Amino acid sequence: MKPFQTYLDAVNQAIAAIPYPAEPDQLYAPIAYHMALGGKRIRPVLVLMACDALGGDAAGALDAALGIEMFHNFTLLHDDVMDNADVRRGKPTVHRKWSSNTAILSGDTMLTLATQFISRTGNSAVMDLFNKTAIEIYEGQQWDMDFEDRNDVTVEEYINMIRLKTSVLLGCALKTGALLAEGAEVDCEALYEAGVNMGLAFQLQDDLLDVWGDPKTFGKEIGGDIMNNKKTFLLINAMQLAKGDDADELRHWLNDPYATRVEKVAAVTALYERLGVRQLAQEAIADCNARAIEAFNRVKISDEDKQAFVDLANSLAGRNK
Ligand code: IPE
Ligand code: IPE
Ligand code: MG
Ligand code: MG
Ligand code: MG
Repeated sequence: MKPFQTYLDAVNQAIAAIPYPAEPDQLYAPIAYHMALGGKRIRPVLVLMACDALGGDAAGALDAALGIEMFHNFTLLHDDVMDNADVRRGKPTVHRKWSSNTAILSGDTMLTLATQFISRTGNSAVMDLFNKTAIEIYEGQQWDMDFEDRNDVTVEEYINMIRLKTSVLLGCALKTGALLAEGAEVDCEALYEAGVNMGLAFQLQDDLLDVWGDPKTFGKEIGGDIMNNKKTFLLINAMQLAKGDDADELRHWLNDPYATRVEKVAAVTALYERLGVRQLAQEAIADCNARAIEAFNRVKISDEDKQAFVDLANSLAGRNK
């Protein structure tokens, strides 16, 4: 396998070379804007790494990698409307810079462009996996929205929700690379399992960064989850642990529609700190990451390639952006 940076450069070059029609400008300019904002490009790099590790031709997996990254970016356009988020990758979100209508329609276009990229692989197993994963993500996003209005969400329901909205796409990326390399079924499945567990750790870490991240590095506004009453691992555990005055205070912030952002975010963060839920989330991340590493170690690839996946999993589990 090659260094992470080599795959990242290949992905970024290919993204920069995607041709968009000039008109209608209001449809394509937001797509080009969002795709050029950067981002970690984890998913397309996972496609190429898995393909290479299993002896495939990574260059031939580039269309699939682009399709998955384009799809991911489409979900972000719509997610930022749904979450009322103003900033992404350190820049105004598409619905703030243009409008919600733009985010919807440019997002729709990105979904179809993504599907076109995936179709170009001509691999029906890859197309089936992509379509199944896309629907799972919409289901996860719906649970995420439903949970905003519920106060009895369990940790188990939360884990299932993040498995759907976030983790299956990492599993899909790895398995796509493996399928294109014509890897053995057990290896394709082990990589999928590794990706899903890595994705669980990834979303738990995203929830932590939404509270304690540095907005300059993280590229998103801090406290969005708290403002939306998102039932994150942190909030679910806080609701279960808070007693007496803490419980009353938490209930107040969940139910006060006039709370200002500054006050609510500071107060709920202080409650999280008092209740020790940050530590609980860190333990859950370590558990998911350990399961991801166990699955990577089951894949029949060189020790060096296993180590590259393990290093990536460890760095994502402790990421600050
Ligand atoms: C953001 O994904 C959405 C989540 C699943 C948390 P990333 O953190 O991979 O976002 P970019 O692509 O690097 O901006
Ligand atoms: C996003 O979860 C998952 C998808 C976009 C499918 P979040 O809503 O936590 O992602 P961010 O924090 O906005 O990137
Ligand atoms: Mg969001
Ligand atoms: Mg969201
Ligand atoms: Mg988030």
